[in-house]
Amino acid sequence: MTFLDPNRTTLVLAPMEGVMDAPMRALIADLGGFHYGVSEFVRVGVAVVRAEQILREIPDLRGPVFGRVTLPLQLQILGDSPEFMAATAVEGCIAGARAVDINFGCPAPTILRRSGGAALLRTPCAITEIVRAVRDTLPAVIPVSAKMRLGWESPNEIDAVARAAEDGGANWITIHARTKMEGYRPGVHWDAVARVRSRSSIPVVANGDLFTCEDVIRCIAETGCSHFMIGRGILKDPFLAHDIRESLGLPSLRPDIPPRHSDRLRIAIERYAALTGERAANAGFIPSRVKQWVGMVRDLSEDVPRDVLSAVKHARTASELLGRLRGEVY
Ligand SMILES: Cc1cc2nc3c(=O)[nH]c(=O)nc-3n(C[C@H](O)[C@H](O)[C@H](O)COP(=O)(O)O)c2cc1C
Repeated sequence: MTFLDPNRTTLVLAPMEGVMDAPMRALIADLGGFHYGVSEFVRVGVAVVRAEQILREIPDLRGPVFGRVTLPLQLQILGDSPEFMAATAVEGCIAGARAVDINFGCPAPTILRRSGGAALLRTPCAITEIVRAVRDTLPAVIPVSAKMRLGWESPNEIDAVARAAEDGGANWITIHARTKMEGYRPGVHWDAVARVRSRSSIPVVANGDLFTCEDVIRCIAETGCSHFMIGRGILKDPFLAHDIRESLGLPSLRPDIPPRHSDRLRIAIERYAALTGERAANAGFIPSRVKQWVGMVRDLSEDVPRDVLSAVKHARTASELLGRLRGEVY
């Protein structure tokens, strides 16, 4: 299973806890365009998380559970104990993971209180220890990477943070080009990512605000990176990875990409409902998840066609949602 090949342009589906779960990943895998995805984080506290628990949280770690298309999935873990993180990474491999990522970027207060995620940006030596413990415990065929923000407060912190992960033996790093304090405020610091990429001996995946092909082209010009992670952009336009492939001259895997963006969201929602279908936990699952998805798209100040909005707002079941999207009257 191939994850990041340093010599090939790579498109990575970002982890998005509470949003990019197994059903949503099945849709994105089905629509195609990405090389691999990263799971939402599995929280490692003061005990090892066992394989069964990991599989309950990330059921598609062994392969697709909705639909049939496989998107290689890297397991992400989050915590501050080198010992429990390493042991959990082993359990992750028993559960089916073929690559492990370590989260050093989550800014959620509940995580920070227990000093995981972005809290570790303030202690680069702890990052080295955690990455080294995981790297040394797993066989070399299992890549270990680290995902981080630029720092807690200043983008300049990334030099020490990135070096810490590299010193620990990370096979590559992914940088969300904002500090913890910046949250999701518009604007990313590609200059800081460029600095790390030019000094680093391991690949760097650029992440943050890649919403269009032009954003990716600007990112290449400003960072020199050839690996890109996309999160919220794929919610806005589920076919974006194909457009990026085309604009970078990569082979397109699907010739039947709908051209208009407003149609794309509708087509993707229909596909999601069909794929998740009978396996959904309950009748309200699909409408509620689609409502959340469309809500996020609107928060990103994207226009959603009025009829799609109305269908999503009023539907109570998947079949009603599909009917309303097709214009049937209820
Ligand atoms: C709802 C949500 C949940 C997220 N969950 C995770 C997570 O579990 N692990 C992680 O490393 N990053 C997580 N992130 C951060 C994204 O992976 C990504 O770094 C960030 O959204 C910036 O990329 P984008 O501008 O392409 O969305 C999350 C982001 C969002 C919006």
